[in-house]
Amino acid sequence: MRWPANHGTKEQVEKYRAAIQAMRDLPDDHPHSFVSQAKIHCAYCNGGYSQVDSGFPDIDIQIHNSWLFFPFHRWYLYFYERILGKLIKDPEFALPYWKWDEPAGMPIPEMFVPEKIYCEPNSLYDVYRNADHIKERIVDLDYGGTDRGLPYEQQISSNLCTVYRDLVRNGGDTLSFFGGVYVAGDSPVENNDPSVGSVESGSHTAVHRWVGDPKQTNGEDMGNFYSAGYDPAFYIHHANVDRMWKLWKDLRLPGHVEPTEPDWLNASYVFYDENEELVRVCNKDSVNLDKLKYNYVENPNEVSLWRKSRP
Ligand code: C2O
Repeated sequence: MRWPANHGTKEQVEKYRAAIQAMRDLPDDHPHSFVSQAKIHCAYCNGGYSQVDSGFPDIDIQIHNSWLFFPFHRWYLYFYERILGKLIKDPEFALPYWKWDEPAGMPIPEMFVPEKIYCEPNSLYDVYRNADHIKERIVDLDYGGTDRGLPYEQQISSNLCTVYRDLVRNGGDTLSFFGGVYVAGDSPVENNDPSVGSVESGSHTAVHRWVGDPKQTNGEDMGNFYSAGYDPAFYIHHANVDRMWKLWKDLRLPGHVEPTEPDWLNASYVFYDENEELVRVCNKDSVNLDKLKYNYVENPNEVSLWRKSRP
């Protein structure tokens, strides 16, 4: 069970930190190394692969800004989590998620804040972050590159409205939530295209930009595709993005269903699994969390505030 990063036990936090450290300790060219894992993201976003297998060797693959966004990242985290578990010999290991959809989870998780570092070295530290934001610590889910300076209460309600907007108002049917159709032969979709999915273009991108360092040329690390995977915050952010898929489905509203087109179901990616074997996985096998044997700890007594936050 993946756990909310703001509610981890000391043991969970320590295990997570140790697992990331073990990953950092591997030689860079090992498929499980911190660098190799980060490069997976770069490879699927920055022209690392072309569509050669489908007969379009001159067209790049870009899994963002389309309906491949959710399933690709689900698989990416799936293997990342299993690799971490293997490195610390804990088959039960599960990732934390940055629960930015509820007020208590909106600050950047404490284990990422430099002042709270109580162990050295802190494997969760990344030098390329917006230091002011990390200190301030409450995320802006509508961040567009400039600080809005909202008072605390207002920032919270703005964030809750953003979650409602991404999951309900703007995500009312399959493609508006997942993103537009993108198939073999299509050129990469631009991030300002109106077809980009509601969560991807909304809260997801806002958090990336909010964490990245504006003093770096490309907003490194979190603010750019090629570098995002080098910040451990990427994976806890994406665990929550993945959870948004689950929450959206659990709303059981009409239209809240995964794509059924063969082009989506059979789209596939390759990853190294925890045994260092190269495996190919399909979108269709990413849909059922029971089969993937992980889920998210939810508090059954908690009423999600965003559900009552229609903008
Ligand atoms: Cu692959 Cu959050 O981007």
